[in-house]
Amino acid sequence: AQAEKAGYKHFMLKEIYEQPKGISDTISGKLSLIKGEAELPFDFNKIQIVACGTSYHAGLIGKFFIETLSKIPVSVDYASEFRYRDPLIDSNTVVVAISQSGETADTLAAVRLAKLKGAKVIAICNVIGSTLTREADYTIYTYAGPEISVASTKAFTTQLTALFLTALEIGVIKGTVTKEEEQKYIDELIKIPSKMEDFLETEKKEKRIRQLALEFYMAKDALFLGRFVNYPIALEGALKLKEISYIHAEGYPAGEMKHGPIALIDEKMPVIVIAPKDRVYEKMVSNIEEVKARKGRVIAVTNAGCGEIRRLTDRIIEIPETDELLTPFLTVVPLQLFAYYIADFLGYDVDQPRNLAKSVTVE
Ligand code: G6P
Repeated sequence: AQAEKAGYKHFMLKEIYEQPKGISDTISGKLSLIKGEAELPFDFNKIQIVACGTSYHAGLIGKFFIETLSKIPVSVDYASEFRYRDPLIDSNTVVVAISQSGETADTLAAVRLAKLKGAKVIAICNVIGSTLTREADYTIYTYAGPEISVASTKAFTTQLTALFLTALEIGVIKGTVTKEEEQKYIDELIKIPSKMEDFLETEKKEKRIRQLALEFYMAKDALFLGRFVNYPIALEGALKLKEISYIHAEGYPAGEMKHGPIALIDEKMPVIVIAPKDRVYEKMVSNIEEVKARKGRVIAVTNAGCGEIRRLTDRIIEIPETDELLTPFLTVVPLQLFAYYIADFLGYDVDQPRNLAKSVTVE
């Protein structure tokens, strides 16, 4: 097993570092498919995404991609909730089921219900020949390679890649994205792997996130705040921390903080704020001010420049710039590393956290 870890202490760390390659491979896989096909295999006016865990968080971001690029309404449900409500889906609905393993029981049950109601199913899956891919009408593969660590990392960013390219594809077919815009977005996406690589290499040298983890590993709770496409990243950052370090963490949309979580903020509370330069940047700066006014300990994930944030906290994690829709690819990486280093400092079994399974094949 040590050899398989290629010099990394844990699979999780190795898999975090494998993300640029997984994204590149997923882009190549999907682009060759798009070239081979002139149109989508089915007609629809609504998309329903179903998934569990980290795949569900990818789905929440997929909603932004699809609604922005193709103007088709998207609902996102936990598969375990979807299967027990009366979802309004029919033969004009496409259900997109996202699953790394393709074996999650709740996701499979949601797919079976969708098919009973006449919906068509597209799977986004990392495992060739898995149950989900056999039951779906159509599969878009992610090329993350085998993911061993229970806490999912590279599966997530390859799912985002597949969702983004699918959203673009639908947009081009529906005429909501021009050929020029498509090229512009693809060019931006293609740059993501090298930007991520740069970030990861800088972290290897400077160990900035490792330092922050050392400062915070004794924390009892943590709050993750984001807005817009980075609200799901706040949820994912909190999930990663809970899963492997057993620290209670909550992800929240920053604008909603005033309706509850702000009551929890004191001089002990770590607040991880995801604030790249995007349409909600100024709002995030105000949220940081609110946290600082209550003496919260702010860590900000932001871009170079962004002096407003630098004046408020010196715990800054700088990520490369990209199109605002694509920022989740880059903001999630420091949160994965933060959770990883904290769990490692606490001495936990990072790849095999207690009570959790890599794929939950029973209900
Ligand atoms: C388990 C894993 C998570 C994963 C979730 C969904 O809870 O521990 O990492 O996100 O299942 O798995 P799937 O294979 O359907 O993506």
